[in-house]
Formats: sequence, C-alpha cells, structure tokens
Amino acid sequence: MGALWRWDFPPQFIKRFPLFVETGVGFADGIVYARECGWKRLISIEVDPAHAKRAAIKTLNYPAIKIITGDSGEFLRYVDCVGTFFWLDAHCPGHGYGTARDPLFERDPDVRMPLQREMELLRGYAGHCAILIDDLRYYSDAMDWHDGPLPDDQNTLPPEVRNLDFLEPFKERCAVEIFPEDAGYALIVPHGCPRPTILR
Ligand SMILES: C[S@@+](CC[C@H](N)C(=O)[O-])C[C@H]1O[C@@H](n2cnc3c(N)ncnc32)[C@H](O)[C@@H]1O
Repeated sequence: MGALWRWDFPPQFIKRFPLFVETGVGFADGIVYARECGWKRLISIEVDPAHAKRAAIKTLNYPAIKIITGDSGEFLRYVDCVGTFFWLDAHCPGHGYGTARDPLFERDPDVRMPLQREMELLRGYAGHCAILIDDLRYYSDAMDWHDGPLPDDQNTLPPEVRNLDFLEPFKERCAVEIFPEDAGYALIVPHGCPRPTILR
C-alpha cells in the first residue's frame, strides 16, 4: 500500500496547485500530511460514513480541512479542478482501516473501484491540474510492484477493464510517470510545472 508521506512536495508545486483534493480518507493520514506539507485548502471525499466521521473528528482542529461524505466518482464533478492537486486513493469502501470487511463488500463495481470514473472526469482538465494515483497494481500487472502482485482476493475488476488506458488522454499535455515503489504510483503533471519527488 502506498502513502502520501512517500512524496516530497516542493513549495513551488504547492503554489502552482494550491487546492489539495483526496479521494478516500482512510485514517486521514494523507490529508494531515498534506497540511503539514503546506497546503492551506484541503478536501477529502470519503464514501464510508464511519471513516468520514472518524476523519472529521481527527481533523477538527484544522479548519483548512474539509471531509465530504460521498462517492468520489460522483462528487469530483463539483470540485474546482483548475490549479488542483489530486491524490487519488479510493478503493474498496470499508476494507481495512479498522474494519475486516471483504474487498467485495461494496457490490457496485463503480463505487468499489472509482478511479476510472474519476479519471474520466479529470481528463477535461489535463494540463490544468496535477494527479498522483496510488495502488496502480489494482489496474495492471505490467510492472514489478515493490509490494508484489495484487493479491487474488483484491482483484475485483473484470479483466477487460483492468488496464492503464485512463492515463492516455493526459499524455499530450502532461508528463505521465509510473513508479513501481510500494503498490505502484502514477504521477501526472502538466509539462513545464514543478514536480514532487518520491522519497527513496
Ligand atoms: C487506501 S484508503 C485511503 C488512505 C488515505 N488516502 C491516506 O492517504 O491516508 C482508501 C479509502 O477509500 C475509500 N473509498 C473507497 N471507495 C470510495 C469511493 N467510491 N468514494 C470515496 N471513497 C472511497 C475507502 O472507504 C477508504 O477509506
């Protein structure tokens, strides 16, 4: 599993992309780290009400952080995407993070694995936003991910939609890089913009 703290965000990057938007809050570790990095406006969209409530309580003293309860694949359309950095990390609602639910607990595959819908919404903003995707191994076996291949019980996508095609629309206007560290990351940054670096 990846983590946002694996990344160093230079001040020029945060200045260029001043709104931080996360999909999937988990234990709120990512959004709290983003605030420590220097973001002053931060939003996380979390579909599991218990996770959202816990994160809201954990971040109560940080007025810059807003936790929204909802499906990221739907809610992202209401977010201002220009000048935004997206940390896309939503998958398998309720699996892990204090609950022992099966990865298939969420029956709707679109809600269970919302990344492709998120990227469909964001492709219209290619060149105007930056994106870091976590856990790429959910979508591809093409690299030697350092955490190993995706465990069979977490492979809930039909083979015909399990691919990295969602990166293609960004390649003209952005540098698109894949990192094998942890469970795999994809970094998408408009050409000519400052970039975060992975801490090795
Ligand atoms: C890996 S955790 C997120 C960790 C967090 N981003 C961090 O950096 O610490 C994945 C989270 O995504 C949430 N999730 C799954 N599907 C979702 C969806 N369709 N919309 C919003 N959140 C979702 C899960 O409930 C879980 O809390």
